[in-house]
Amino acid sequence: MNIPFVDLKLQYRKISEEVKSSINSVMESADFILGQELEKFEIEYANYCNTKYAVGVDNGTSALELALRAFNIGTGDEVITAANTFTATASAIVLVGAKPVFVDIEPKTYGIGPGNIEKAINSRTRAIIPVHLYGHSADMDPILLIAKKYNLIVIEDACQAHGALYKGRKVGSISHVGCFSFYPGKNLGAYGDGGMLVTNDYNIADQARMLRNYGQKQKYVHQIVGFNRRLDTMQAAILRIKLKHLDSWNSARRNHARKYSEYLPAENIILPIEEKNANHVFHLYVIRSEERNDLQSYLKSKGINTGIHYPVPIHLQQAYDYLGYSKGDFPLSEKIAEQILSLPMFPELTEDQINYVINTIRKFFGKNPI
Ligand SMILES: Cc1ncc(COP(=O)(O)O)c(C=O)c1O
Repeated sequence: MNIPFVDLKLQYRKISEEVKSSINSVMESADFILGQELEKFEIEYANYCNTKYAVGVDNGTSALELALRAFNIGTGDEVITAANTFTATASAIVLVGAKPVFVDIEPKTYGIGPGNIEKAINSRTRAIIPVHLYGHSADMDPILLIAKKYNLIVIEDACQAHGALYKGRKVGSISHVGCFSFYPGKNLGAYGDGGMLVTNDYNIADQARMLRNYGQKQKYVHQIVGFNRRLDTMQAAILRIKLKHLDSWNSARRNHARKYSEYLPAENIILPIEEKNANHVFHLYVIRSEERNDLQSYLKSKGINTGIHYPVPIHLQQAYDYLGYSKGDFPLSEKIAEQILSLPMFPELTEDQINYVINTIRKFFGKNPI
């Protein structure tokens, strides 16, 4: 068997007729930039997240960057985020001229450790960016309490967690702003790049709309210096179709995760956890093993493709050398980076494929097949 880590072709085959007809209608109408399909998608996505506003941008990194800019966060400011996130969370902070300040994670779901945040706050701190990593929400209540105490902005990096819940609320809607990526492999993925910023704050949405479109509301009236960071109308048309399937795709992911967790050998590996107050959407199904590298090579030799998210914590990446961090600063982030392994996960995985992954892992650890 050859099992891909993600298979986007299968999903396309199921929705191809709808997608083709909606691409065709954008072409026919020649409504390519900030078109009606984008406006409709923004309304639908805001409704999906239970927020008042949604602003489509060209990718998740831009969503984070424009959210920071909308709050006037920039040079001289510090922004706190998790040491185990994807580089884009940190690069968005750097792109606005601010300084990323990393903190270690909590051991259960690998979200930013609320207990570590307060120690990192000083007079320059302006915001916290919790990351809903792998599709599981960060523990938002203590984070919001700290933010309130120190008067900080909270921007959720929900790029991996479309549809995930925290205490019954959609992630992205819990703080000042939520940022999403529609990179093709995400739970809601475009056929190219895309992103979205959601908020209940009119002024922030307004500012983000101007920033993504040359700083204008009215053509050739530039109130601020802006960018060209719009979500492509064609991608919005595709995403409107895919949004209708998101909940059922997420529940398929949850079923696959349940099966993995039931039969993988919990005595040999650490399985992912879902907190009681959360609804995990399993963008990634991440296990931990001290024998990670051998296990990954073994799975590869048996045709099973896996990933590591992420192999080097962000504070140890060369790009952030200038911040002066060193090995040992965030022990948990560093430890899990050597142990984590993301198993194949996409809605269209079959029962046979899941059983094959489970039995191959069981065999590696000398266990009988299921
Ligand atoms: C946690 C996280 N933040 C930010 C991003 C950036 O999104 P994009 O690739 O759409 O710029 C991603 C996805 O790649 C991500 O996983």
